[in-house]
Amino acid sequence: MLASKVLLCLFPVWGLGQSTANWISVGEDGTSFSLSSSNISYQFHVDPLTLDLIHDHWGAYSAETVPPFINSESGWGGDYTYRLREFPDVGRGDFRVPAIHIEHASGDTVSAFSYTGYEINSGKPPLPGLPATYGSEADVSTLTIHLYDNYSDISADLYYSIFPRYNAIARSFQITNHGDKEVKILRASSWSIDMPNEELEMIDLYGDWAAEARINRRKVTHGEQGFRSTAGYSSHFHNPFFALVSPTTTESLGPATGYSLIYTGSFAANVEKWSTGWVRVLLGLNPMHLSWPLGSGETFASPEVVSVYSEKGLSGMSQSLHSLYRNHLSRSNKTFETRPPLLNSWEGLGFDFNETSMVKLAQDAADLGCSLFVNDDGWFGTDFPRDNDTLGLGDWTPQPAKFPDGLRPYVEQVNSITVANSSEKMIFGLWVEPEMVNPKSDLYLNHPDWCMHAGSHNRTLKRNQLVLNVGLPEVQEYIISTIEKVLDSAPIGYIKWDNNRGIHEMPSPAASHEYILGMYHVIDNLTTAHPEILWEGCASGGGRFDPGLLHYWPQSWTSDDTDGLERLYIQFGTSFAYPLSALGCHVSAVPNGQTGRTTPLVFRSAVASMCGSYGLELDPSELEQEELDVIPGLIDLQQRINPIVINGDFHRLVLPDESNWPAAMFTYPDAHEAVLFAFQIRSALKPLPPPLKLKGLDSDAKYTVSNGTWETTWSGSTLMNTGLSLVWPAADYESMILTLKKQ
Ligand SMILES: *[C@@H]1O[C@H](CO)[C@@H](O)[C@H](O)[C@H]1NC(C)=O
Ligand SMILES: *[C@@H]1O[C@H](CO)[C@@H](O)[C@H](O)[C@H]1NC(C)=O
Ligand SMILES: *[C@@H]1O[C@H](CO)[C@@H](O)[C@H](O)[C@H]1NC(C)=O
Ligand SMILES: *[C@@H]1O[C@H](CO)[C@@H](O)[C@H](O)[C@H]1NC(C)=O
Ligand SMILES: *[C@@H]1O[C@H](CO)[C@@H](O)[C@H](O)[C@H]1NC(C)=O
Ligand SMILES: *[C@@H]1O[C@H](CO)[C@@H](O)[C@H](O)[C@H]1NC(C)=O
Ligand SMILES: *[C@@H]1O[C@H](CO)[C@@H](O)[C@H](O)[C@H]1NC(C)=O
Ligand SMILES: *[C@@H]1O[C@H](CO)[C@@H](O)[C@H](O)[C@H]1NC(C)=O
Ligand SMILES: *[C@@H]1O[C@H](CO)[C@@H](O)[C@H](O)[C@H]1NC(C)=O
Repeated sequence: MLASKVLLCLFPVWGLGQSTANWISVGEDGTSFSLSSSNISYQFHVDPLTLDLIHDHWGAYSAETVPPFINSESGWGGDYTYRLREFPDVGRGDFRVPAIHIEHASGDTVSAFSYTGYEINSGKPPLPGLPATYGSEADVSTLTIHLYDNYSDISADLYYSIFPRYNAIARSFQITNHGDKEVKILRASSWSIDMPNEELEMIDLYGDWAAEARINRRKVTHGEQGFRSTAGYSSHFHNPFFALVSPTTTESLGPATGYSLIYTGSFAANVEKWSTGWVRVLLGLNPMHLSWPLGSGETFASPEVVSVYSEKGLSGMSQSLHSLYRNHLSRSNKTFETRPPLLNSWEGLGFDFNETSMVKLAQDAADLGCSLFVNDDGWFGTDFPRDNDTLGLGDWTPQPAKFPDGLRPYVEQVNSITVANSSEKMIFGLWVEPEMVNPKSDLYLNHPDWCMHAGSHNRTLKRNQLVLNVGLPEVQEYIISTIEKVLDSAPIGYIKWDNNRGIHEMPSPAASHEYILGMYHVIDNLTTAHPEILWEGCASGGGRFDPGLLHYWPQSWTSDDTDGLERLYIQFGTSFAYPLSALGCHVSAVPNGQTGRTTPLVFRSAVASMCGSYGLELDPSELEQEELDVIPGLIDLQQRINPIVINGDFHRLVLPDESNWPAAMFTYPDAHEAVLFAFQIRSALKPLPPPLKLKGLDSDAKYTVSNGTWETTWSGSTLMNTGLSLVWPAADYESMILTLKKQ
């Protein structure tokens, strides 16, 4: 009975065969769809009875569509209770968490979306006002499905794009109100599928300030498992990413599907296992911060979710996301450029500086081999001079006591400094935090209503500051014009854009998404006008390390915790979803300001060298001479390996969560070069370290393996299958950076 039913439901799928859209095919009956490359398939069909979209498969390549076995007569619910749905709405008996929930003018919240048609196009349309992946007709094809709710005159267009080279599907939707009354969108999950009854585990990244991207792996079991941000931003607490894997999936083996939301605001991830064993997978906006009013004729666009599928475990999943995000999300032309080693003034001088002491710090940085000097917080505020964090935010004018002649003469002095042993001149970088205001500022005195607040509720301070309501057009104009003025006032080559608190009181739930749209408008404007600037995001460390901002900025500060050991965990965790080229990582002084731990300079530098952007965050005048003697060599090594860190494929070999000897490596796709990072956390007499088996090499080739002073030759097969037997000294916090070159 079961077998014959499945056979009856089998229908062939044929390619359209025309143009570059042949990654998408439509079944003979015109209502089953498949987005496929040689390695992946995403399939669904229209239920002939209900005109609902039924999910069939997302994973490894599958030539035919096999509709699932459904026994809707055998339960307490109705047709929709026992359907694997693509775009679950509310009412009609689907009792699981919906992807879309709309409150109509009448007050009811039932929707009845039905299939009306489709389009297939090469390329991918941009999302109005939102960051998203992009690509040419050769890179990506898009299927648009049209749905209509006859009862409420609301249409939904679902966008499915396939990036065949990256094993990736991107999804988003748009809702248009064709009726004459306003409705409210209560819930909007950009991604929604129902997976069949298979054992799954969920992996996500949780944390806090100075403890970002901890890895959490759990069994998917009955009920809901998920997480959310309600902080107004993606936040340190949870990253808008998760993976679903089989219980046997490891770093390098087994199926892994990654889900990543391209958005910087409050979000929700929801994985719900149902009585049937089916698992609903939702990722999108947080319903607590939505209630989006949609007037007659208006359209609401959801942000985009990208999902990648890999059969090569979690490393394979991460590599797909890394390549897709570097090539088709980040739009900065710095993405593939080697980044200048920098010195940031914050941990060295804090607020206590003037033009003389800053120029001296820049000179010290240049003498060590840094080519970018970053003036952090404290440079601005005229009536409310920013000498501490209680005042000045919002007033983006140079502080007269520190810079009597403004920024230009100061920046020109920095620009005239020559980097040691080169003809290069020093680049100048500046810190800003434009979405915030101190009550003690001209901006707040003039516009007390520009900050986020809720009626007469207290405007709660955090770090003595309030959040501007960037959803307001006048606030957007103010930020664009004041930051533009700063950028015009001096030759600035780098901007660190900080954001140091979450949003507490809001005038309405919808103000949260309005804020994020306004923020994207501002950042789009400034980055479009200034592609020559290297932009770095920051939010008290990794509070906004998300794909939304990585669309505009090529890099982001990973964590305020610069302790070398803590950083290993944070960086390995962050690498689950984000390319290492996007991580900002610095070497700071010891004992570490956050943890009090002392680790060797060489170890701290090796940890920071795993990232795209490397820097020093200390005052060189406080270092010992022997440290000063070592730093130029460490920067030189970092600069030599930076091209492969930026452009190569990243392999997590051993996680710090799992071993005393964590390791990772980068390889070029053609395997002609690689670099290996290996660490010993604690000195231990027993057990001995396991052999370190490398990845991504050419088995038949011979490689010269070098640590700079010593080299040897091994073949790829030996390095990958027998592994290196590294000899560690009897000391804590040891590190090795080995380069491998094909002979
Ligand atoms: C919706 O309305 C149109 C036009 O009246 C009709 O053709 C169609 O069958 C209706 N669809 C559903 C699902 O009721
Ligand atoms: C598809 O799979 C083949 C065989 O494993 C592999 O060689 C190829 O690189 C894969 N393509 C992509 C885009 O992952
Ligand atoms: C700048 O600061 C340094 C160190 O604090 C101090 O010695 C110097 O007098 C200051 N210069 C000016 C012009 O204020
Ligand atoms: C510059 O060269 C000198 C002599 O080779 C060397 O001692 C010093 O470390 C170098 N400095 C930098 C920053 O590379
Ligand atoms: C902050 O700086 C201002 C201006 O220099 C000063 O008046 C105030 O006392 C300082 N506050 C704290 C808490 O240091
Ligand atoms: C609200 O803020 C005022 C002024 O800062 C303070 O005196 C009061 O205690 C606060 N009220 C509450 C309920 O927190
Ligand atoms: C940025 O915004 C300003 C002020 O609204 C406008 O004049 C300018 O054309 C915009 N630039 C870009 C690149 O969008
Ligand atoms: C990036 O854009 C800037 C400004 O248009 C330009 O000066 C620079 O050469 C570009 N860099 C690359 C690598 O294209
Ligand atoms: C390289 O390895 C050799 C042999 O183990 C060792 O003596 C030397 O100190 C190492 N050099 C570096 C820079 O680690």
